[in-house]
Amino acid sequence: MIEINWDALRAVANSAMRRAYVPYSKFPVGAAALTEDGRMVSGCNIENASYGLTLCAECSLLSDLFMQGADGSQGAAGNRLVAFTCVDGHGNILMPCGRCRQLLFEHSAPGMILETVSGMRTIEQVIPDAFGPRDLEERK
Ligand code: THU
Repeated sequence: MIEINWDALRAVANSAMRRAYVPYSKFPVGAAALTEDGRMVSGCNIENASYGLTLCAECSLLSDLFMQGADGSQGAAGNRLVAFTCVDGHGNILMPCGRCRQLLFEHSAPGMILETVSGMRTIEQVIPDAFGPRDLEERK
């Protein structure tokens, strides 16, 4: 079982948050996660003049995950996420939005832990009965 240093993970999320591009909402967000093989990945939100095209911090975190080395297959060994945190512009814990919980679920190891506004929660708790890759396989 990999050791999770939450202070270090939160520090990485805060650094990412400072890179946010948020001229419209002025609401910077930073996210950080730990991979099964012990790497940290992070992301910030990137807004757009066409507001609805905004990329959440979690989207940019997943780009980092794949740019760092996924082999492209779903659940590639060592590349799944085991721990996640997300902060607002004051460094306070922020819940990932519904869409981003789905995005994170796809790349989570079973039991991935999220630091949330109501304490430590597993991915299964924050997106119960999630639709995921297995549903596609089982219902073909
Ligand atoms: N935002 C994120 O980056 N992640 C979330 O999970 C919640 C919302 C961003 C999107 C937008 O740039 C700003 O927060 C305000 O909604």
